[in-house]
Amino acid sequence: MTLIKAVRGTRDLLAPETELWNYVETTARRVFARYNFGEIRTPIFEDTQLFARGVGEETDIVSKEMYTWEDRARAQSEKSQSLTLRPENTAGVVRAYIEHKLGETGLLQKLYYIGPQFRRERPQKGRYRQFWQIGAEVIGPPSAGSESPLRDAEVLEMLASFLDELGISGWTLVLNSVGSSTDRPRYVAALREALAPVKHQMSEDNQRRAETNPLRVLDSKDPDDEAIITTLPKIADYLDDASKAHFAAVLAALDACGVPYEINPRLVRGLDYYTRTTFEFTHGGLGAQNALLGGGRYDGLSEMLGGPKAPGIGFAMGLDRLILTLQNRDAAAPPEQVQLALADAFIAPLNEALAAPALALARELRRHGLRIELGDGAFRLKKSFETANKLAHNIILLGEDEHASGILTVKNFATGEQTKIPRDALAQALRPPD
Ligand code: HAM
Repeated sequence: MTLIKAVRGTRDLLAPETELWNYVETTARRVFARYNFGEIRTPIFEDTQLFARGVGEETDIVSKEMYTWEDRARAQSEKSQSLTLRPENTAGVVRAYIEHKLGETGLLQKLYYIGPQFRRERPQKGRYRQFWQIGAEVIGPPSAGSESPLRDAEVLEMLASFLDELGISGWTLVLNSVGSSTDRPRYVAALREALAPVKHQMSEDNQRRAETNPLRVLDSKDPDDEAIITTLPKIADYLDDASKAHFAAVLAALDACGVPYEINPRLVRGLDYYTRTTFEFTHGGLGAQNALLGGGRYDGLSEMLGGPKAPGIGFAMGLDRLILTLQNRDAAAPPEQVQLALADAFIAPLNEALAAPALALARELRRHGLRIELGDGAFRLKKSFETANKLAHNIILLGEDEHASGILTVKNFATGEQTKIPRDALAQALRPPD
């Protein structure tokens, strides 16, 4: 029989590696809480139109990479509907913002999410078809300060602090401004004009992009097209005064709090909703897929989805890529959180009849917050010791005598010491030092 395997581009995350995932997620929750963010959880599938309208029909994500299906009507009252596994979470958050009228609070909404996203990309190291993002969005009516460049700088400073707190060094913050919704069409028109006489010399991919979405030519990695790309007009020359001032204010705030950055005029990003500030944090250790995270402003997205004016800025980090970076860093000496912690004790019932009393003892000790492994009454003493030595700091022997007297025999593997401990003092004796 052929074995069924995980689908290409998806993977199982096993313990103890999942300890590292939990550690990164816990650190994110702790850091984001300091900036007063709350958590949002949106559905994993949405109406296909949400992504078509929000992310953009011409983007690679929508035109090539979505997992979309026609969901048949199950009842007469239901219509069939085109549904899509979310390829990203910003569109879902803005949909929820509109649907729940969060703008009516008059306050900024500061929301973070942690969850899987799905894109049918060619799998390689750091690129999967099901991958995880930790992201956040700051969105609200302009009266709540949602357009302020201070929001951009605060989000970027939070990311720098988060990476520092995780112990990830060697990142580069790359920034650009893609201008307002009126700057963009002027720039795209200039790009088209500049590309028209030279595009036939470019790769097939770029010839197609020059037609459908000229901005995408800018982030092409094709070395043969590089010479032409460097001669193309720069978006900075097409920004209106308000966009220029906004970008300058973001940079000044970053300078004030000492977050280093580089400006890359070619950073346009692959989603259509961006306006003004766009950014990525890259890391050299990741190879071709070097973007640890990406984000930017999307001042018109709510209106594109039929909602009120609600400027916003946010980011999403590739959790898979954060983990790879930590694993590369720690290859020689994995930190504590990558190893599954040893149990405080392994309870070894010395015969089958003592298996049930052993479970009762385990329940008692676990209720005291101890981490307990339960052995098998069918094990011989030698096997119990061997297994316990791999899994726990101590072994508790539960034989007929111990069961009758309530005095347990405990051996500590580190010291080799064997002691008799009354049952009611056991939890205290096993408790690891703080
Ligand atoms: P994005 O650049 O498409 O932006 O994705 C953000 C991050 O998700 C990337 O920098 C990368 O680390 C990770 N990522 C993307 N695709 C994959 C993949 N196939 N495998 C592994 N990791 C991947 C967004 O998704 C926007 N929603 C970000 C945003 C939030 N902008 C504003 N708010």
